[in-house]
Parts: sequence; C-alpha cells; structure tokens
Amino acid sequence: MNNVSPQTVYLKDYQPVPYLAGEIFLRFVLEPEATEVASRIEFRPNPAVQRKGAPLVLDGERLELKSVQLDGELLDPSRYEVTATHLTIADVPQRPFTLEIITICHPKANSELSGLYVSSNVFCTQCEAEGFRRITYFYDRPDVMARYKVRIEGPKAACPVLLSNGNPGASGPIPGGDCHFAEWDDPHPKPTYLFALVAGNLALARDVYVTKSGRKVELRIYVETGKENRCGFAMEALKTSMRWDEERFGLEYDLDIFMIVAVSDFNMGAMENKGLNVFNDKYILALPETATDVDYVNIESIIAHEYFHNWTGNRITCRDWFQLCLKEGLTVFRDQEFTSDIRSRAVKRIADVKRLRADQFPEDGGPLAHPVRPVSYIEINNFYTATVYEKGAELCRMMQTLIGRDAFRKAMDLYFARHDGEAATVEDFVRCMADASGRNFDQFFTWYEQAGTPEVTVTETYNEAARAYELTLEQATPATPGQADKKPVPIPLGIGLVGPDGRDMPLDLDGVGVLNEPLIELNEAKKTFRFRNVVKKPVLSLNRGFSAPIRIKNAAPIPEQLFLMKNDGDTFNRWEASQRAAHALIRARLSGGVPAADTKSFIDALRTVLTDSRLDDAFKALMLGLPGEQEIATLIGRDIDPGAIHEARDALRAEIGQGLKDVLLDLWRKTESHAPFRPDPDETGRRSLRYAVLQALAGGNAALGIELASEQLAQATNMTDEIGALSTLVTLEGPEREAAIAAFHDRHKGDHLLVDKWFALQASAPLSSTPARVRELMRHPDFTLANPNRVRSLIGVLSMANPFAFHAEDGDGYAILADTILALDPKNPQVSARMATAFRSWGMLEEKRQALAKAQLERILGTTGLSRDLFEIVSKSLG
Ligand code: PHE
Ligand code: ZN
Repeated sequence: MNNVSPQTVYLKDYQPVPYLAGEIFLRFVLEPEATEVASRIEFRPNPAVQRKGAPLVLDGERLELKSVQLDGELLDPSRYEVTATHLTIADVPQRPFTLEIITICHPKANSELSGLYVSSNVFCTQCEAEGFRRITYFYDRPDVMARYKVRIEGPKAACPVLLSNGNPGASGPIPGGDCHFAEWDDPHPKPTYLFALVAGNLALARDVYVTKSGRKVELRIYVETGKENRCGFAMEALKTSMRWDEERFGLEYDLDIFMIVAVSDFNMGAMENKGLNVFNDKYILALPETATDVDYVNIESIIAHEYFHNWTGNRITCRDWFQLCLKEGLTVFRDQEFTSDIRSRAVKRIADVKRLRADQFPEDGGPLAHPVRPVSYIEINNFYTATVYEKGAELCRMMQTLIGRDAFRKAMDLYFARHDGEAATVEDFVRCMADASGRNFDQFFTWYEQAGTPEVTVTETYNEAARAYELTLEQATPATPGQADKKPVPIPLGIGLVGPDGRDMPLDLDGVGVLNEPLIELNEAKKTFRFRNVVKKPVLSLNRGFSAPIRIKNAAPIPEQLFLMKNDGDTFNRWEASQRAAHALIRARLSGGVPAADTKSFIDALRTVLTDSRLDDAFKALMLGLPGEQEIATLIGRDIDPGAIHEARDALRAEIGQGLKDVLLDLWRKTESHAPFRPDPDETGRRSLRYAVLQALAGGNAALGIELASEQLAQATNMTDEIGALSTLVTLEGPEREAAIAAFHDRHKGDHLLVDKWFALQASAPLSSTPARVRELMRHPDFTLANPNRVRSLIGVLSMANPFAFHAEDGDGYAILADTILALDPKNPQVSARMATAFRSWGMLEEKRQALAKAQLERILGTTGLSRDLFEIVSKSLG
C-alpha cells in the first residue's frame, strides 16, 4: 500500500480555541486566476481557556501568503511559520489585537468546488465544512463566530452582481478603471462555514415577503441569464417555507434580504450560507417542460430545508463537526414536517422510509456504519451521510412521538431561548427535550451514540377464553465496526390490534389501563405486553407510521399481510404490509418455489386497493411499487446474487402486470389528462399512478409497454410525461428505445439539466448492454468529470440506482466505477469519495462478485496520492 494513513480526528479531543474573534473585515479583489483577499480580524484571548501565551494557530490551505500585520506592524517572516495547512504566530499579545493578512487564491484552477471557485464564469464559494481555509487564514471551525463585513471589488462587465452575506451596504464604481465594488454587513455572528460570496453576470427574480411581525424582506433568486423565468416555483416555495416556520415554530426571518443563487457546478444539493443560500441549479430551475414532478417536490423541500437552517444551524450552530446531526437531523425533520403539512403526510412518510431503507439501512449494516453522532473521522466531508441526515431526523421524530407535539414545540422554544447565538452540542438539544417535557432522555441518548439498525422480534399468544393477548418483543442491534456490544434503546412503537372486521380494538394494557395513545415503549432487551379484553384474535399492526427506525425481524405470514393491506387503519402500515408480502413472495421465488396461491391472493389484494375509489392516486402508485432490488438484497444480507434478485422481482412484476391487466388498462385510461400542467399534490399523484401503471403493464407485456410508452411520448407536453414514458421505454430493448433516446438528446441538447436526465435514463436501464453503453457515453462530447451532476447522472446512477447492471457478472460495472473514481479523485475528492460508497456492500455479495469488487477496491487503495476523502471510504470499506 502506498498511502500513509491520514490523521483521525476524535470527539474526545475537543478543545476550545485560545483566542476569540470579534469583527472580521474581508476585502476581495476578484480575478479568476488570482484573487487577492485582505482580512482584518479582531482577536482577544479566550477567558474560558487557561493557556496563557498559547500560539495563534490559524487554518489555511493552497494559499499564497503575501503579508501579515499585527496591530498595524508588518511582521517579519521569522515571527510566524507557514505550513501546507497552517499559519502559526507563536507570540501574540495577551490582550485584544488586530491581525491583517493578505493572501492570494486561485479560483479558476479550483476543481474541487470547495473554497472560492469559478462555475460557468461565476465566482462562487463553498465553505462547509472546511472550505474557508482555502480563502484566507482563520480559525476554520464552527465554534468560532465572528461579525463579518465584506467588500468585493471586481470587473463591472464580467461581474455586474457582487454578493455576500447579510444586508447590503455601499456600492459603486471604483475610480480609474473598469471595476466596481459592493459592501455587505452581516449583523449576526457566524462561523466560517456560513460565509459566502458570489460574483458574476446573473439574472434575477424578485419578490417581497412580510414577516408576521411586519418586517419587510426582499427576496431574490439569481440564476444564469435567460433562465429567470424558471424560478417562479422556487420563489413560491420560499415564501411558503417562511410562513410555515412562523406558524409551526414561531420563527421569523432576521435580515432585510434573503438571496438564493443557483449554480451549475456544485458538490451537494444546496448550502444554507447566512442570507445567501447557494443551490445546485437542478434544485431551483423548473418549468413544466423541463422539470418532472420529482424535481418539483425536491425543489420545494430543499428550498425549505436551507431556509429552515437559518434557525437550526445558523442562529444556533454546531460546536464541532461531530455535532453535525444537531443541525442536519433536526432540519431534515423540519423539512419533512413541512412537506407533510403542505402535501400528503402518508405519501411523504412512505417516501422518507423508502429512502431510509435504500440509503441508511445498508450504510448502518455495512463497513461504513457510524453513530448519528460519530466519535471520529478522517475527513468530515465523508460524514454528510444518510445516517447523520435521515436517521438523525428519525431521532427528532421519535422524541416528538415520545413527548407529544406540544411538548416538542416547548422544547424547541427552550432550545432557542437558551442557545440562540451559540455553537451547541447534541447534549444541549436533548437536555431541552428533557427539561421541557419532564421526561428522562438519558437512555434515549444511546440512539445518538450507537450505530446499527435495531432488530425487533415479535412473539404473540392469544387466549380466546381469557380474552388475553400477549405480545413479547425482543430487541437486539447487530454489531458494527468498533461497536461489538450493543445496549437496548428506547423504541416507541405505534400499535393497533386489528379485529376481523378490520377495525382497531381497544388497547387495554394490563397494569396501565386503556392507552390514550396507540403507542407502547420497548425500553428493555425483552418485554411482554399483556392486553386484556381482546375479544377476537387480533392481527397485529406494529410500528405504525414507522414510529421507530427499526427492522421487525419475523414478518407475519402472508395472509395476515394481505389482510392488513386491505384493512389497516394506518396508511403507512397498509403500504408496509404490501412491501412485506412482496418481499416474502420474492424470497420464496429465490429459494426455488412459491405457492401460486400466494401470488394470486397478493394480486387480488392489490386489485382491491387499486379499485378502491376512496384511496388517492398517489397511494395506489406506492402500493403498486415493489421493494427495490437493493432493499431486498439488504434484507437477505449475505451471498447476494443481484442478477437472481432482479429476475425474481421481475417475475413477480410480470405476474402483476398480467394478472391485473384489466384494472391497469382502466387506470391508464382514467389517468390520462390534457389539462395544463400543475405540480400540485393531486396532479402529481395522478401522474405517479399513471407511470407506475405503465411500468406494471410493461412488466407483464413488453410489446404493450413499448406501444403505450411510445404513444405517450409522442403526445407528451411536459417533462414528467416525457420522462415517465421514457423511463419505461429504456428498459425495453428494441428500435423504439434507441430512436427515443436519440430524439430526446436532439430536442434537449441545449439544456444541461436535461442532458443530465438523458445520461441518467440510459444508465438506469436494467439491461446487460448497460455497462457497455455507459462506457460509450463516457466518451460522449457532453460527458465531463468536471461537473458533479454529470458524473452522478451517469456513473452515480449506474452504481447506486441500477444494481442489475452495476453488478454485471463480469465485473465491468465495478471496473467502470473504479476507473471513474481514480480519474476523478485528483480533481474532486469529495465526489470521488462519495462515488466510492457504492462499493460499501461488497461483503454481502456472492463469492465471485465479492472477489471482483474487492479487487477494484484494492486497486484503488493501491494507487498513490489518494485524497484523504477517498482513502477513508476505501480503507474502511475493505475493513
Ligand atoms: N449543509 C448543506 C445542507 O444540508 C449540505 C452541504 C454540506 C452543502 C457540505 C455543501 C457542503 O443543507
Ligand atoms: Zn442541511
């Protein structure tokens, strides 16, 4: 191995800094090749730290240092030390002092998209988590908060727009040249990671929002010139978010202006910089003819997410990066609640659980498993994970479930009252939950510290004569790397005992009485709940609403699942029952046999659901969706043959398509519409059902699928219809497929977001020709490693959304991924490391594929000069 292990950072080593910062003044002279940054920072000794005379050690990377002045005096280079990562001044005054530093950075050459970089001629910064150190020397850590004043100077022609955080100040031409300047003042102290600067030639959409206390806020969305007509939906979503946070949490916006900038080169989805959010443009730009329903829903929730960070993240920030879930888990929970309130709660819950199972469960069960609050990392960028975000949100949700919505709101109020303006810890947050509710959260904290998905085993007995129903629950969490022994966690379980008539029976718990809330808590390793007065043998509906992020180990038999599919009063569990039944059928197929009667009764139950006029389209669409191949693999857990899983799942799909052909064709006709496109819940639901139906029909009869998809494609007037038809058509080999792919490129080649979709469509096809097609597309003139969205569209989709093709028997999928990672790593380590996580489940594959995947991981690890990011993912994946 040629790599020297990089340093690990530990939570237990946290130390406050010896010097605090007051005001920071930054002056930028923008030039793509070499931008000059002059900083003036007020420091003072930190009274809380007893390290008199400690050196001042500031972070800085890839900077050219021009000069350092201390209290106006130019320092001789012998007074300080500069390394590749730090500027150290050994001797600084033990009273307030001012440091002035001039550095040069190189935005044009910055391909990592962290720090100050240029994206399509726009200067743009990305500072979370540790990008500020590529702009100038400072304490680049979230517990050092400062008041920022910024002056930007740049060429008027290339950069008519000059933006930074806070409220706008003076601006105007600079005499004697083609440059102008703008000043910005942010009254709210913030850590470096929330700093932002944007400069370039951008168009803008404007609006105004009046807060509930009457403050007028100017709203602006900046986009590439010519796209200003594509921000209307984003602007509405922003205003809806602002209103919602006032109503649900009493939180108002706190500056005169709120700005969003959309850029096309971005490592992540979006960034919550104070007053100046920066977005991946795929999460802003939308017109009916360019964006799908899925895009609309994503835009709405990401706008909300970033906006909500203004309080959960910015006003109260994180003490250190181990506390990342403090802002991310909580803010995801808040955006989930937002979407639930403005759309359908059940649909949102199902979508979130699907995502948790697809991304977080495999992470939690593999070599990269880590607690929601990790205790160590090599590269913090690798910890923006499904565990920190999605499982982190589940923990907030469980706390709300345990104490109730009102107490949760009180706890949030207390959190802001206590910690506004501070850099807090997860302990601080959970203490507010405890103090506001009176409930002890000591044991709950284990959820933050323990990795792995708890498994619950269910045993039931029923005694008709005694009308007694006994439910015994046992929990165990599998070992994860570095955590062999697990403690029990408190598990809140929504519960229903469903009677033969489909109605819930009263929950009369021995020793407690009739429960006010249909909720039980499993706090210990094993517990028996005795229900009295249960007049008929019930069917158990457990973990209703997915009240806890656990796995129920022993699923009830198929007939009970089918009963719940048709009868459960909890919408989530109705869907869950369909998933469990489908799982059981697919697994039975995999092990060589499945009673035809079971498949038939499953199809009958689906028929009942699909023809029930009281159920909405979106829910029917979800019921029609089988569990994903990756999800099935995770459940089986070992000796996985992705090809066999694909076949078994396809076979069930074919039976559904054939067995329900009449119902499906009827729905196909009923969901046709020529009304103007609206991205609202009803219309979105209608279209989601339409394309779920198309997929099912195509699964049952390829020729029919091709016919319907081609017809639909020919008349499509919006992107949802276009992609809906195409995503089925690309799965069906034939001349229609190739013609449609070519036509899509012809029609949309001028729009980079649609070209991304074009790449993604082809990479998503579960065909044996897909790896070769992807290799061919990597040589397409439109393909580039420089743009993260493009890489994700082609290689990301192949490796993370197409198990059949990625796990091709000859290992070509693995080779494509490894080639890409190695080519990308020197340019953009954050994205190369993210791509490498697609290998994380290699250990559960069957022997042959395991060897092929492992060989690629070893090949990567054996390459010299790997980034810290990639090294961490690959070395941990190999275990
Ligand atoms: N903080 C961003 C969010 O979740 C994500 C992000 C992390 C963006 C790191 C860029 C860099 O809202
Ligand atoms: Zn976030």
